[in-house]
Amino acid sequence: MKKSFPPLGLVCAVIGAQWGDEGKGKVIDLLAEHFGVIARACGGANAGHTILVDGKKHVFRLLPSGCLHSGKSVVLGGGMVMHLPTLLEEIASLEGAGVSILDRLSLYPNAHIVFEYHKDIDAVLEERRMGQKGEGIGTTRKGIGPAYMEKAARSGLRLESLRWDVQLVKKELEDRRRAVVQMYGVRIDVDRECEEFARAQKLLAPHVVMNGPELLRDFLEREESILIEGAQATLLDIDQGTYPFVTSSCTTAAGALQGLGLAPRTLTSCIGVAKAYCTRVGSGAFATEDTAEAGNRLRERGGEYGSVTGRPRRCGWLHLPDLRYSAIVNGFDCWNITKLDVLDTEEVIPVGTGMDDRGNVLYEKLPGWKTSTRGITAFEKLPKEAKHYIEFIEKQTNLSARLIGTGQGREEMIVK
Ligand code: GDP
Ligand code: IMO
Ligand code: MG
Repeated sequence: MKKSFPPLGLVCAVIGAQWGDEGKGKVIDLLAEHFGVIARACGGANAGHTILVDGKKHVFRLLPSGCLHSGKSVVLGGGMVMHLPTLLEEIASLEGAGVSILDRLSLYPNAHIVFEYHKDIDAVLEERRMGQKGEGIGTTRKGIGPAYMEKAARSGLRLESLRWDVQLVKKELEDRRRAVVQMYGVRIDVDRECEEFARAQKLLAPHVVMNGPELLRDFLEREESILIEGAQATLLDIDQGTYPFVTSSCTTAAGALQGLGLAPRTLTSCIGVAKAYCTRVGSGAFATEDTAEAGNRLRERGGEYGSVTGRPRRCGWLHLPDLRYSAIVNGFDCWNITKLDVLDTEEVIPVGTGMDDRGNVLYEKLPGWKTSTRGITAFEKLPKEAKHYIEFIEKQTNLSARLIGTGQGREEMIVK
C-alpha cells in the first residue's frame, strides 16, 4: 500500500457501518503495517474477522486481525468481554503457526470475563424470547449479553482477577450460583470454571497491565500510532443501533475510544467499512433485504455464512440512509467499500436511497458491469459501471471511497 495514503495520523479507528461482517478484518490487516499498536476495544468472541493471506484463511475472534504483522503491539481494551479459553485457543493457534503473540500482548485489567454460565444464560434468554415473542434476537450465544448485564449490575469479574488467588474467584462464583439458578435455571459448574480460569491465569496474568489508558498514552508519547479494530458495527450499537436487535456494547468510534480510555480528541481518523451490498445475521429490520433469488446469489457469491456460528447471513442491497447515518454517528473520513466483486454478475443493482411516506424503500437501479473486477487494484481499471456505482455512493454519502475491496486476499484492494 502507498505510504502516502491514507493520512491517518496517530490514532485511527476502523468501524463497521452496517450490521457487521463488512470486512473490517481485511482492512485492519492491510493497514496494520503502518501502525505500532493494534487494539480491540469492545465486544467479545461474537466477532469473527476473517482474513486471507497467501491463500490461508485466519479467523480472529478476540485478538485483532493485525496480529499477523510481527512486532506490532497488541492491546485488548477494557470495553471487551473475554472468554478466556477462546483467547488461549487463538493465541495457541497463532503461536503454533509461528506467529508470536505473548511477547507483545497487553490486556486491560477492567475487561470483563465471560464464563461458560454466561453462554448458558444467553441460550436461556434466547429461548425465553422465542417463547414469549415468537423470535429471539438471534445472538451468537457467546454469552455477550449476560456478561455485559453483570458488568452493568456491577457484579462482573474482570481481568484484574487473574492476579488473585483462584480461591477468591471460586468464592465469587459460588456466591452467585444460587441467584443464577433461580433467575435462569442455569447451573454454574464452579470447578470447571475455576479450572479454565487457572489455566488462563498461568499464561495471561503477566499480560494484565496496571493501567490501560496510561499504556496507550505512553505509546502515543513515543509517537507509536494506534489502529483500533472496531467489532460488530454501528447498526448493532446498543445506543445508536436498531435496538433491541443489537449487541450489548457500544460499537461506534466513540464506544471504541471509551473502551480503550482514549480521550475523544486523540482520534485522528476514522474509516467507515461498508459492503457494496448489505447483510445481517440474526433478527431485526432489514429494509433492503432480498429473500428471493438475488439474495441467494449474493450469499453464495459473497460466502455469506457467519464465521462465528456458520449461520447463513440475510442478504440484500445497499441502503444509503444507513451509510449516511453511520457517517454522522462516527464522523467517518472516508469509506472502505468492500466486496465490490460480489456484484460482478448482477444485471442491475438496486440501491436503497430513501423511504416513501408509507415506509417503502425507494430504489435507484444502477446498471451492472457483468465482468470480473476480482483483484483489480487501480480505480481506473474498473469497468465504467463499477466506477459509476462507487461514485454514486460517494455522491450520496458525501464521502470518498478511498479503499475498495475487490476480493478476499490482502492485495485485492483498490487504494485511491
Ligand atoms: P468483519 O467481521 O467485518 O471482519 O468481516 P468478516 O470477516 O466476518 O466477513 C467478511 C468476509 O468477506 C470475509 O470472509 C472476508 O474474507 C471477505 N471479504 C472481505 N473483503 C472482501 C472483498 O473485497 N471481496 C470479497 N469477495 N470478499 C471479501
Ligand atoms: P463482527 O465483528 C455480525 C449480531 C448477532 C445478533 C446480535 C446480538 O464479525 O462484525 P450478540 O451475540 O452480540 O449478543 O448478538 O448481534 N452480531 C454480529 N453480527 N457480525 C458481528 O461481529 C456480530 N456480533 C454480533 O448476530 O444479531
Ligand atoms: Mg465478522
